[in-house]
Amino acid sequence: MSAEQAFQGSKVVILDFGSQYTQVIARRVRESRVYSEILPFNSSPEQIHATGAKGILLSGGPASVFSKNAPRNDPAIFDLGLPVLGICYGVQLIAHQLGGIVEFSDKREYGPGTLRIIGASPLFEGLPSEIMVWNSHGDRLTRLPPGFASVASTENSPFAAIQHAEKSIFGLQFHPEVAHTPLGKDVLENFLYRACGCSPDWTMGSFIEQSCHEIRERVGVDKVVLGLSGGVDSSVAAALIHQAIGDQLTCIFVNNGLLREFEAETVQKIFRENFRVSLKYVDASKRFLGKLEGVSDPEIKRKIIGTEFVRVFEGATEELKATDDGLGKYRFLAQGTLYPDVIESVSISGNPAELIKSHHNVGGLPEKMHFELLEPLRHLFKDEVRHVGLELELPREVVFRQPFPGPGLAVRILGAVTNEYLTILRHADEIVESEMKAADWYYRVWQSFAVLLPIRSVGVKGDQRTYENTVVLRIVESQDGMTANWVKVPYDILSRIASRILNEVKLVNRVCYDISSKPPSTIEWE
Ligand code: XMP
Repeated sequence: MSAEQAFQGSKVVILDFGSQYTQVIARRVRESRVYSEILPFNSSPEQIHATGAKGILLSGGPASVFSKNAPRNDPAIFDLGLPVLGICYGVQLIAHQLGGIVEFSDKREYGPGTLRIIGASPLFEGLPSEIMVWNSHGDRLTRLPPGFASVASTENSPFAAIQHAEKSIFGLQFHPEVAHTPLGKDVLENFLYRACGCSPDWTMGSFIEQSCHEIRERVGVDKVVLGLSGGVDSSVAAALIHQAIGDQLTCIFVNNGLLREFEAETVQKIFRENFRVSLKYVDASKRFLGKLEGVSDPEIKRKIIGTEFVRVFEGATEELKATDDGLGKYRFLAQGTLYPDVIESVSISGNPAELIKSHHNVGGLPEKMHFELLEPLRHLFKDEVRHVGLELELPREVVFRQPFPGPGLAVRILGAVTNEYLTILRHADEIVESEMKAADWYYRVWQSFAVLLPIRSVGVKGDQRTYENTVVLRIVESQDGMTANWVKVPYDILSRIASRILNEVKLVNRVCYDISSKPPSTIEWE
């Protein structure tokens, strides 16, 4: 789908009041096969109407409705005639704005509770009369707004679920979207299917079909360029666009000399041989390594790699443009931008006006390249992208591969990069990957890799004293790369990796395990 268009089937919008769970709500809704979009909390009724949504969810949030800068929705959204479901902070907003009473509390009710269903409600149809729920809220509702009734209570609150039956406005003080509310999915589905009348039509098959149609319409007879990195996002974007327009897509794969063992060959094999994608392979490794020679400052290394990448990519697209024929021009640059990159996220900690920021992932490529952007994955979450990849028959190794940084092995060799260090690191990295896969741990962690410390220490091999480099193993778990923890991998796996590196990789005589979390460390070493 293009930036402007969205899914044509059933959809709902989620107004974001800054909860850490907003994206979780959006994903749960999509798991129930209804398309969801996150909008800023102060979106106007016209904006909401324009999306064609069949219902509105109000997310939770850390604010109190009493605080001066509390984020508030436009009350006119209650007059759109659409069903509304407020969750946590969302229900307090409903009560506060529609004439109920919310009491300030500086203590949060946090943890599990039992919800007793006490009134008929579409939200609880087909559910037992008592369900386990997860609470996390501060202020509490003490009087209902006119026209509302309580339909469920907990030990601590007679108004744990409320509704205005005629207007289809609902509020839940607990969180149906978290795993600790085991039947929360049913409650959300009841809202979506029964209250809003949505159909479960959001599937990756329907996405692919609609997306291909839209790509064809938008691109017409023209052509698309895509920078393929071999990572999940650019690979799935390439496969999708190729499905839509075939040879009108050309992928450019830049070998910066900082890739893993066999990376360049594997990417070419998958895309050129299996998928028959038109692929321009640019081996710029000498150029990158030349520029990096003798450079040891991490920030300067990253800058050089970024700048060189743009230059090489520009050169490659210029060459393509020179081949423009009467049949269409290279008009589009495709990117694997995902939904979390484009959501206008809200953080509630001060003046809301200053807090809305949009993230636009334009991959650092300059505007003067004069391309129109094609971002067919910009409405998808990562797990959806993986499903699309599988449906398009990309190999599982590509679809579930671990993230790999753009600057490649350069940020895993401390200090200046040399060919010798790259050879050592590639070999060690290949051992880590193959042993993690063999032990069935590779896909269970966020990342597992080797880092080369060009710090020499004394060892002994055979009868010989050695004075060689150190390899560090970095294996972390993480949700999104923003925070991370080191993984307690079984000792026998660590031991196998270490002994293989020590036996097989030349010029390494010591292996260490990194037990730092992020923060204060980072995942990569540079
Ligand atoms: P750090 O090292 O900052 O990394 O904890 C967080 C996550 O981001 C990846 N990473 C990068 N990815 N270009 C990328 O595409 C980069 O320059 C880059 N630097 C770090 C890193 O592998 C980890 O998953």
